[in-house]
Amino acid sequence: MPTVEENKSAWDGTYDWSQAGDEWSATWGGADQQWYFSVLPRIHPFVPTGTILEIAPGFGRWTQFLKGLCGRLVVVDMAEKCIDGCRRRFAGEKHLEYHVNDGRSLEMVEDGSVDFAFSFDSLVHVELDVLDGYLRQLAKKLKPEGVAFIHHSNIGEHVEYLEKLKRWGVKDGHPLVKWGLAHPADHWRARSVTAAKFRSAAEGAGLRCLTQEIVNWGTPRLIDCLSTLALPGSGWRKETVVVRNPRFMDEAEEIRQKAPLYARTGLRAG
Ligand SMILES: C[S@@+](CC[C@H](N)C(=O)[O-])C[C@H]1O[C@@H](n2cnc3c(N)ncnc32)[C@H](O)[C@@H]1O
Repeated sequence: MPTVEENKSAWDGTYDWSQAGDEWSATWGGADQQWYFSVLPRIHPFVPTGTILEIAPGFGRWTQFLKGLCGRLVVVDMAEKCIDGCRRRFAGEKHLEYHVNDGRSLEMVEDGSVDFAFSFDSLVHVELDVLDGYLRQLAKKLKPEGVAFIHHSNIGEHVEYLEKLKRWGVKDGHPLVKWGLAHPADHWRARSVTAAKFRSAAEGAGLRCLTQEIVNWGTPRLIDCLSTLALPGSGWRKETVVVRNPRFMDEAEEIRQKAPLYARTGLRAG
């Protein structure tokens, strides 16, 4: 859990997209703050470039920035609602291509055509079997020097802890949670995934992780991971560097505090 079907019924059904995903950037002080101070610094060696593939764009929270960093941008999402939202939002942009998939397939993308594949704040909800399928396909879709940057779950490292809290009845509202002594929040992360399992799935798929930054997300626990991947025969670094960063949310707070100074929304009159 969450399954492909559960993702479909959440994002293509019940979820209220009226804020286009910007609501998830509030912690950083807005989507542009999050992009320029948190996401872009982590991907800047790979852009601008020719063709970008964005997997699971939602309503285009990152697409709005990626589109200025490439000659061609292919977006693939399992939710029709999201692809329709992106079509409306980016109408008139001739270099964007839109595809609704089944939550597993990248068959609509030509082999050997992608310079940079990107997915952020989406595949955290996707279990290892689905990620494994995407990784196998990405190995074929990337150009020889292509790179993928994938945000995925690491909550598999914490399953025992979360199960224990559940058995003890420690959930939101419990005094231990209020006092910051227990952290039951799982943010709907995919429990079969850890950074190490993702890394070995990548290797099995014919890719290599260049880097893995294991980060906290909405909880002090390091439940997420940002992995950068390339083909083993490419000119990118041969060894994998894995870093555990428990300060990711502190960084978000620092970025948020700078929003009145630097965010577009903060600077605009009215
Ligand atoms: C939390 S939203 C995030 C959207 C966007 N990345 C953002 O940050 O605003 C999750 C998105 O992932 C998509 N998604 C979830 N599972 C997927 C899968 N297996 N394949 C493709 N898209 C998927 C959903 O349809 C939804 O658009």
